[in-house]
Amino acid sequence: MPERNIVLIGFMGSGKSSVSNMLAKILKRDVLSTDRLIEEKEGMSIREIFQQRGEAYFRKLERKIVQEVCARQGVILDCGGGVVLDSRNVTDLKKNGILIYLAASAEHIYKNIQGHKHRPLLETEDPKAKIGKLLQQRAALYAQAQHTIRTDDKTVAQICEEIIGILPHE
Ligand code: S3P
Repeated sequence: MPERNIVLIGFMGSGKSSVSNMLAKILKRDVLSTDRLIEEKEGMSIREIFQQRGEAYFRKLERKIVQEVCARQGVILDCGGGVVLDSRNVTDLKKNGILIYLAASAEHIYKNIQGHKHRPLLETEDPKAKIGKLLQQRAALYAQAQHTIRTDDKTVAQICEEIIGILPHE
């Protein structure tokens, strides 16, 4: 039986990248980030892609990258927060992957994104309100994951432990 991918989804700042990297070390698996692959392919940062080409263009790139990474087996996939907006991505990711939603509260997300990499969608006058609005819009989409792990007030190691606990039941 080929090993299934471990696919992390969730809002920006919910800890997907830190958890993916630690999990990859613990499980000795490769880790792939859809955002990093898009940046490599385009030779631009996510922020530049949004600014110069727009969100619709970014989503098309994201769709292509998801199709490519879904061809891999046994890897850890760190997905951009908006990957669930295209239902085809969810279907493809689920085919040979276990979808795990890292769920964080708006307060926790807001704290986490301070002083971190630029998130074009949150570069607004009131990022807190935007987080709340997007979280609400996306709640049902993230809920399509097979598992949900709340990340507020948990360490990256604790979250990894929870994920590892899920694997034998899959
Ligand atoms: C996005 C999340 C970002 C990145 C882009 C759009 C979103 O990824 O793909 O800025 O729509 O939620 P992270 O969740 O890794 O920050």
